[in-house]
Amino acid sequence: MSDHDADIYPASAEFSAMARRNKTVSQADYVASVADPDAFWGKVAERVEWLRKPTKIRNVSYQLDDFRIKWYEDGELNASVSCLDRHLVTRGDKPAIIFEPDDPNTPSQTITYRELYVRVCKLANALRNLGVKKGDRVTIYLPMIPDAAVAMLACARIGAVHMVVFGGFAPNSIADRIADCGSKLVITADEGRRGGKTVPLKANVDAALKLPGTNSVETVLVLRHTGGAVDMQMPRDRWFDAVVDSQPDTCEPERMNAEDPLFILYTSGSTGKPKGVLHTTGGYLVFVSYTHELIFDLREDDIFWCTADVGWVTGHSYIVYGPLANGATTVIFEGIPSWPDSSRFWQVIDKHKVTIFYTAPTAIRALMREGDAPVKRTSRASLRLLGSVGEPINPEAWRWYYTVVGDSRCPIVDTWWQTETGGILISPVPGAVDAKPGSATLPLPGVQPALVDANGAILDGATEGNLVLLDSWPGQMRSVYGDHQRFIDTYFKTYPGMYFTGDGCRRDADGYYWITGRVDDVINVSGHRIGTAEVESALVSHPKVAEAAVVGFPHDIKGQGIYAYVTLKDGVDGSDELQKELNTHVRKEIGPIATIDHLQWAPGLPKTRSGKIMRRILRKIAENAPDQLGDTSTLADPTVVASLVAERKVQ
Ligand code: PRX
Repeated sequence: MSDHDADIYPASAEFSAMARRNKTVSQADYVASVADPDAFWGKVAERVEWLRKPTKIRNVSYQLDDFRIKWYEDGELNASVSCLDRHLVTRGDKPAIIFEPDDPNTPSQTITYRELYVRVCKLANALRNLGVKKGDRVTIYLPMIPDAAVAMLACARIGAVHMVVFGGFAPNSIADRIADCGSKLVITADEGRRGGKTVPLKANVDAALKLPGTNSVETVLVLRHTGGAVDMQMPRDRWFDAVVDSQPDTCEPERMNAEDPLFILYTSGSTGKPKGVLHTTGGYLVFVSYTHELIFDLREDDIFWCTADVGWVTGHSYIVYGPLANGATTVIFEGIPSWPDSSRFWQVIDKHKVTIFYTAPTAIRALMREGDAPVKRTSRASLRLLGSVGEPINPEAWRWYYTVVGDSRCPIVDTWWQTETGGILISPVPGAVDAKPGSATLPLPGVQPALVDANGAILDGATEGNLVLLDSWPGQMRSVYGDHQRFIDTYFKTYPGMYFTGDGCRRDADGYYWITGRVDDVINVSGHRIGTAEVESALVSHPKVAEAAVVGFPHDIKGQGIYAYVTLKDGVDGSDELQKELNTHVRKEIGPIATIDHLQWAPGLPKTRSGKIMRRILRKIAENAPDQLGDTSTLADPTVVASLVAERKVQ
């Protein structure tokens, strides 16, 4: 047992007395969900608006020779109807979105459900007029403004499959994604704003569309946001307002089968290019709506703020679909936590009376470093629940979040999940499950995690192993877009009959899960997944680089940083300037999220005799733990390691 296991934080009596769930209800839900998943998930499905109610609930097999994942397969619905139309009667004047712009001096905006409905219908009509049909892919590359949610819902309304690209990605990354999914139309803005700076979104799209494989794009809709100058290329480029404003304000929703695709979102894996994670309509919507209410103990008058970007799955599920399906008020924040100063988050909480706040450990650690004063300057009295997502939260940051931000009043939900899982799978249910700082605690109803050893044998009791899921849940991804075999190979082949998460995990004597981080070649930088292979291929695309190996290493603020070992071509010398040049090159190839934190020149890389790079060794050197290199007997040339260790020491 570790010291942390005994450190328990029950929800306050005040919170528990009001909570929607308590221990008994929560346990009963879990038992029911596992005993009779059809009955349980059939009932949960009633929370969304079906155009045709499903009679078949679950049709799942993880067996490789008979593989299928289907939920609610004969049901029909439209996600935008569940998120908009059905709220109009009872919640038409309720704020659906509160928009807080980057600059605190720019007025915020409130958009009611009725207004949001009209904006979505107008854009949906415009998209239809531009020839976008059910099943077509639409790329969304927008700032964190309400139009991002409008664009997603407008696609959903006409059955188009949206593919949102995070604004921090560079033209190459946009182009790769467009080429892979063959999107017909791109929705972007002139520029974005973040932390007082502008991001040249339209110019990035222009550059992306000059790259090979992007010919599928017929139209680029350009929203005027900052008013910055852009090049309009006619007839491809169209001003958003010119096309959208005159449209009718109602739009017939497309009838979608539950298993029709809702969106594609690219995420990094261990190998190759990012994969297009495909989510479908019925199961996803049921699952995000259910988990959003359950985990955040949602009430009608809550003001819910998830600080993620809609370019990531957290934004899809818990800024847009979950909250809007539940008729909640969701905050969309364009800015960053540190600008104009590090009180910004807490000021926004006070300004909009935010009751539930959901953010990432990296932000908490960065703000903790600024001390308590920027927090204490604000009241935060409206807060009643805090959440964390994206990476393991270290107990020190958890306690600071709890005591300083939440004034020791607000439970914290540490929510573990992935782009692939669609929604939260492991998290305390507040009021029902006591928290332990650093643990995501227990699985939600219907979720059956297990820990396995390297051979796939299930481990019992308090133990450590690789985290797998033994059965499906409605929000599970259904495929890798355009490559179903890759989906099966990536997630279901390592341990036959199980979904492999790629995470390592410890389970304590109380059955609590403690995620320890990725066990594959994925680095989690500030809660963002980056594949080592992507950074390596960006590095070797530089003319002076012969070879590169990239690993993650512990980083105080980011959780993990990017550590690159670079072998230069013969005759090229390593210098500080070249380091900078390579870093700029990688940022240009992938985007600013791929910033190398540490670059070490490597005259050679440790390889097995068959030429495979031994990353385990490189990870230990990066961690500055050369005494833990483990077995090095299979190295082709052991002297390579000695010289890398010596070089690491002098840095
Ligand atoms: O390693 C886990 C980590 O983030 C990975 C999923 O990343 P992504 O698909 O980008 O989704 C992030 C937002 C859901 C996981 O495999 N992770 C996510 N949440 C947690 C976490 N690790 C520990 N604790 C968490 N609460």
